[in-house]
Amino acid sequence: MNLKTQYLGLELESPFVVGASPLGDDLDTARRLEDNGAAAIVLHSLFEEQLTGEASAMTAFTETFEESHAEAMSYFPESAEYSLGPEDYLKHIALLKSRLSIPVIGSLNGRTPGGWVGHAKFMEEAGADAIELNIYEVPTDEAESGPEIEARVLDVVAGVREKVAIPFAVKLSPFYSSLPHLARNIQLAGANGLVLFNRFYQPDLDIEDLNVEPKIFLSTSSELLLRLRWMAILHGKTPLSLSLSGGVHKVHDAIKGIMAGADTLQMVSLLLRQGPQALTALIKDFAAWMVEHDYQDISEMRGCLSHRNSPDSSAFERANYLRVLQLWKV
Ligand SMILES: Cc1cc2nc3c(=O)[nH]c(=O)nc-3n(C[C@H](O)[C@H](O)[C@H](O)COP(=O)(O)O)c2cc1C
Repeated sequence: MNLKTQYLGLELESPFVVGASPLGDDLDTARRLEDNGAAAIVLHSLFEEQLTGEASAMTAFTETFEESHAEAMSYFPESAEYSLGPEDYLKHIALLKSRLSIPVIGSLNGRTPGGWVGHAKFMEEAGADAIELNIYEVPTDEAESGPEIEARVLDVVAGVREKVAIPFAVKLSPFYSSLPHLARNIQLAGANGLVLFNRFYQPDLDIEDLNVEPKIFLSTSSELLLRLRWMAILHGKTPLSLSLSGGVHKVHDAIKGIMAGADTLQMVSLLLRQGPQALTALIKDFAAWMVEHDYQDISEMRGCLSHRNSPDSSAFERANYLRVLQLWKV
């Protein structure tokens, strides 16, 4: 049984990767994740705002989590422990590199070209095997067009490429008008992979206090379908490595992700809810499913249900939209 996978040019034992989150901020947790089969670990992001000293947009992933998430976990580090500053972040990369044998991926998170991308170089020097560049964008300016926003994305990507020799992936949101075209340009700008997708942490409205409340909830498998569709559409059309992030909770989610075309599957919510041992269970179930279905090598499964390879590629397209609407009977 061979689960070995290539991602960003790195040789991984399997496609199961710990996604960007506080899970990598504590050495013991990171070691337990490795012991339970994690093939690589992505650290939480260093944010552009943090690096440029601007007002904080980081709260989406940090402070608000503990307040709004009821499923507290004993192994989940306190907010203060995981909000590593830029200096400590680099020391932490070096520490993890000295104590783990799996690849360690640093994460940078921002949206505008500028000096902050230089931090990618420091991550490389600290020993990071790769970088994940998260471009989390919420367009609110009516004067800025879609092509202008995409040009900015490409400038940020090119800025990182200029700084580092190690591979990096770009983590995107699904809200671009032509993702395949953007993917092509991201590759031409020097990136090595794509991570699909950012989850959007939608703020809620407090109608009594007339306020807007930031909220972050852990995912469920319902998040998977959006990722499967775009993974399937991109597989085979881009030389970029493809990583799926969002909604992998059960063995069938993982199988679908690989069959749609993912090189790796990133998990956060599952591991925050159930702890590192959930990985062992998932990998065991995945391998058992492969045996049962006569697959010897994960590469035999990868992309077999992509847009290009599936028996009914129109199911990913507009035709599917027409079909499903007509199926509904009253
Ligand atoms: C508490 C928490 C912290 C996160 N921090 C980051 C982060 O720093 N950078 C980032 O790119 N994504 C971050 N994410 C998003 C995850 O990496 C991932 O994309 C998302 O949770 C979807 O995967 P899941 O369905 O397996 O949870 C965070 C998610 C959670 C729940």
